Amino acid sequence: MNPDLARLHPYPFERLRQLLAGATPPADLAPINLSIGEPRHPTPAFILEAYRRALPGISSYPQTAGQPELREAIAAWARRRYGLRQLDPGTQVLPVAGSREALFAFAQAAIDRTRTARVISPNPFYQIYEGAALLAGAQPLYLPTTAGNGFRMEFERLSPLDWAGVQLIYVCTPGNPTGRVMTLDEWGRLFELADRHGFIIASDECYSEIYFDESRPPLGALAAAAQLGRERFERVVMFSSLSKRSNVPGMRSGFVAGDAELLRRFLLYRTYHGAALSPPVQAASVAAWNDEAHVVENRRLYAAKFDQATPVIAGALPCLRPDAAFYLWARTPMADTEYARRLYAERHVTVLPGSFLSRDADGLNPGSGFVRIALVATPDEVAEAAARIASFNP
Ligand SMILES: Cc1ncc(COP(=O)(O)O)c(C=O)c1O
Repeated sequence: MNPDLARLHPYPFERLRQLLAGATPPADLAPINLSIGEPRHPTPAFILEAYRRALPGISSYPQTAGQPELREAIAAWARRRYGLRQLDPGTQVLPVAGSREALFAFAQAAIDRTRTARVISPNPFYQIYEGAALLAGAQPLYLPTTAGNGFRMEFERLSPLDWAGVQLIYVCTPGNPTGRVMTLDEWGRLFELADRHGFIIASDECYSEIYFDESRPPLGALAAAAQLGRERFERVVMFSSLSKRSNVPGMRSGFVAGDAELLRRFLLYRTYHGAALSPPVQAASVAAWNDEAHVVENRRLYAAKFDQATPVIAGALPCLRPDAAFYLWARTPMADTEYARRLYAERHVTVLPGSFLSRDADGLNPGSGFVRIALVATPDEVAEAAARIASFNP
């Protein structure tokens, strides 16, 4: 078997299971799980209906590139959302089976194993970036995002020697777990570095539609590129998803968009990779991308939960409402693992230790001393969990 499989780290939720094993939470308190970033708002009925209507389509093989209707719906959505003058559905957009699959697969297509290969990842981070790098034969390099640097990736910390061999950088904006959104200035600097050192930017934007101010949607890679005069999106691909936007995490539907030359090669890879979207998924995705009303309502539900829970939780665990996404990234009064274990054992609330989302780098684990709290449960459960956290004084 591929020896690189042995380089993969256990997934955070496996470590969480081990951490909580043997604890006996109070039986009179119902369990509330805020550890997993899985949306739990109901799927809109019109999406289910579009899926149902398209079921007979499973009698044929779908194309890897997706149906033209889906590519057009995605391109039109992205043009509206990011104020783009043009985004060609034929060459600059590719449907994928959720952003996770595509974030992983992209590295396999992008990395040149005949040269030194390094892949930069934020730290803490979504673990798929690291696994993708390792299985592509590359070396991950972690850039810490900490309270001290405002949770941003400090590209300027890397020397020309560090950049040598970097072929790919993952950025996550809005970030998981911090919710931070990259600014236009940061994008400008990153584009310059990509041009200078010849690497590709993979921008994970799966939380882009969960934000709090309707007049200020998060900036994305394509919007930043267009605003900075890179209308062909050179060296950039962004990854988007319906999972969180439209509450369909089980449907597995997202897209990749950006540099046409990179997508042409990625499509070639994907014809072998074989993750074409089934016809009902494509039809339901067209319906979802074409509608915004359900997304506005989805945001309203999250905003109400953040309004209610943030001040309550912040009384016990310092945290701020994020720029976007559905996590609170909260400081713990003791080791994050110890806090998470005791909160579960004594209050029956599950949160994710930040150190499980991070790697030690330069003697520092930038996730330690934090927990990630996903406000995905019902408003009542989130309010109850917030009250339990507030009354927990370990
Ligand atoms: C940062 C980040 N990227 C990507 C994904 C994958 O989402 P999906 O594959 O459902 O699009 C997740 C899922 O939780 C995530 O947190």
